[in-house]
Amino acid sequence: MLKRGEGVSAFVEEKFLIRIEPYGKEVVATPGETVLEILRREFYGREGQPSFQGCRRGGCAFCKMELLSGNVHHNEVYSRAALPVEERERNFILACQSKPLSHLTLRMLERESFLDLLLRASKKE
Ligand code: FES
Repeated sequence: MLKRGEGVSAFVEEKFLIRIEPYGKEVVATPGETVLEILRREFYGREGQPSFQGCRRGGCAFCKMELLSGNVHHNEVYSRAALPVEERERNFILACQSKPLSHLTLRMLERESFLDLLLRASKKE
C-alpha cells in the first residue's frame, strides 16, 4: 500500500518530456495520453502551427512522425497503408496510436495540407 506522498512522486515520475523537431519545442506528456492528444493540447493550432486535420484513428498517416529517441507503446490496430511495416521498423510511428513510455524526441514530417492535396488533384483532372 502506498504511503502518503508516494503516489504523488510516482505520478510525477510518469510524466515524460517530448521534444518536437525541427521546432525544438518541448511539451510534457500526461500519463495515459497518446502522443497526438498531447500535441493537440500543446502544439497544433498554437504559435503559428496549423490545426490538426487527421483522422485520429490510424487510417490517414497525417500524424506520422519519426521517433528519434525514446520508446512508445504503439497500438497494433491501424492501417498498414498509413504506416507500412517497413516504416514501422525504421522507427516511424502514428502519433494517434502511440503512448509515451519514456522521454521522446520526435521529428515531424513535412506534409501537404488536405487543401493542397485537393488543389493538386483538381489540376490533374
Ligand atoms: S491521425 Fe490519421 S493516422 Fe493518425
